[in-house]
Amino acid sequence: MWYLVILVAFGVSTVNGQINCIPNLVSPNLIGGRTSSTFTLQNPCCIAQDPRVQADSTIVTVVSTSSAITNFVPPIRLSDLPLYSNLNTSGFFAASGGLVRDLCPLNGNLPSVIRIGDNVACMVNGNTLFCNGPLPNDLDYRVIQLVYASNGTLIGATRISPEIILRRPRDYHTIDTSRKGRSASMVVITTILPILFALLLALFTSLLFMKCCCCRVFVPKKCQQES
Ligand SMILES: *[C@@H]1O[C@H](CO)[C@@H](O)[C@H](O)[C@H]1NC(C)=O
Repeated sequence: MWYLVILVAFGVSTVNGQINCIPNLVSPNLIGGRTSSTFTLQNPCCIAQDPRVQADSTIVTVVSTSSAITNFVPPIRLSDLPLYSNLNTSGFFAASGGLVRDLCPLNGNLPSVIRIGDNVACMVNGNTLFCNGPLPNDLDYRVIQLVYASNGTLIGATRISPEIILRRPRDYHTIDTSRKGRSASMVVITTILPILFALLLALFTSLLFMKCCCCRVFVPKKCQQES
């Protein structure tokens, strides 16, 4: 029974070329996992588990804006992948590519992550394949990974990643609200502190007064002994 289910599932995945993996961010808590122009993906080694994928297959990471992903059709030929310079017009580009044997070596030392958007030089010339240029901050992204055989023909594509939102400077609405909250407590503190301070000062002066003046009037002998 299970054997049948697995056979059918594999048949379906072979027919539509889908590789049953989902690209995802490294832990969002990891420092530098997301910046205002880059993000970092988990290693793509789930892909290497697919029986159609070989050590000399190429894994390509395509970055798309969330709105453009529905227009993206994986090119049949590796050489037809969209370039960084296409990002403005089409909304997607092939950011990085590497051999399965390099990205997921069998001997254990996994290069654990794929960093997207860290090549500033692509802003000057984004017309080379896999130019991994910085991502505009005001858009949301999704990622799909494609696998090509050594002869450059498409083997399949992963599922589409969840939406990826880059770090943004806090919009001023948020800052305004939080400053209002803070200034309320600041008002309380700035009101109470001087009052406390004045009370302390009054206490101190009256103590001083009692020490030097009242002493002289009421118990002159004791004060003279002390000083
Ligand atoms: C390329 O290689 C794949 C897998 O090895 C094979 O299925 C396909 O027929 C080849 N295509 C060409 C054009 O040689």
